[in-house]
Amino acid sequence: MSTELPPSSIPLFPTVAKYREWRQKAFEENKSVGFVATMGALHEGHLSLVRRSLAQNDLTVLSIFVNPAQFAPHEDLATYPRTLPGDLALLEALAMYPGGITQDVRAQTGTFVEVKGFGHQMEGASRPTFFRGVATVVTKLFNAVQPTRAYFGQKDIQQAVLLRRLAQDLLLSHPEPRNVVIVPTARDPHTSLALSSRNAYLAPYERENVAPALYAALCAAEAAWGAGKPKADCVGCARAVVAAKEEEVGGAVEIRFDYIEMNDPETFDVVPDRVTRREWEQEDAERPVILSGAMWVGKTRLIDNIVLGDKSRLGIVD
Ligand code: PAF
Repeated sequence: MSTELPPSSIPLFPTVAKYREWRQKAFEENKSVGFVATMGALHEGHLSLVRRSLAQNDLTVLSIFVNPAQFAPHEDLATYPRTLPGDLALLEALAMYPGGITQDVRAQTGTFVEVKGFGHQMEGASRPTFFRGVATVVTKLFNAVQPTRAYFGQKDIQQAVLLRRLAQDLLLSHPEPRNVVIVPTARDPHTSLALSSRNAYLAPYERENVAPALYAALCAAEAAWGAGKPKADCVGCARAVVAAKEEEVGGAVEIRFDYIEMNDPETFDVVPDRVTRREWEQEDAERPVILSGAMWVGKTRLIDNIVLGDKSRLGIVD
């Protein structure tokens, strides 16, 4: 099948084979290659990853592929924002899963990658097949791109931590696990809303006045943790912020928490309800903890997180 790529001043590689020729030259010239994997609909958050890669590598590669394997059949694969012409999307799908791919996990055949024990909590509890789809496509992308470094956004913290673990467990050399870099979440400068391709689904009122409640809720939980409150109370403080917002909007927009939780970044285990920061850090000062949440605003599901404690231990570099 021959598909025309849109004209671009940036080199576009229509096939993995073509890309590999280019990568081989970079290997021979000893040039480092930074990699940013995306599903398109690029925004400032993606650009912050690209900038980081440009600053740290001789060359930078960005992939655009809306990966069906990480969407459940009832999710928004069909409406996920696509900003490249459909023929390019077809070509990408062809290159990634030559035999096509069904979203019905039981009917899938072939090789899939699962990071056991790390995909069922937090986001994985709401989206049980999501991380299997992500781990599989990113393994394929790492194999194809062979990057020196790869950059992922903190907004998807569980994904980023899980992919570092994947690089470690599979003894990857391109990238090495320490070169899976997590870049802090890019936020709207006025509302602090985490930038996300799915923000495109939000009506202006939802984006300006309702969606920012998620980050405000996380900040309230962070303050409570810092003040020595047990985890359950911190979560309660976050829920109170969203409840107040619900009251304010008075049913004009449906707001619903999917979850708000604190998890150990080593295991993703839930922090027990009665644990305070003092207990958490008893034997390990600045021991990190992931405070994360997901919230529905109308039909749009938003996620966000704050890493408390020493976030550099998770590979998050400011
Ligand atoms: O974060 C994303 O956009 C996707 O999960 C990724 C890493 C590109 C895999 O499809």
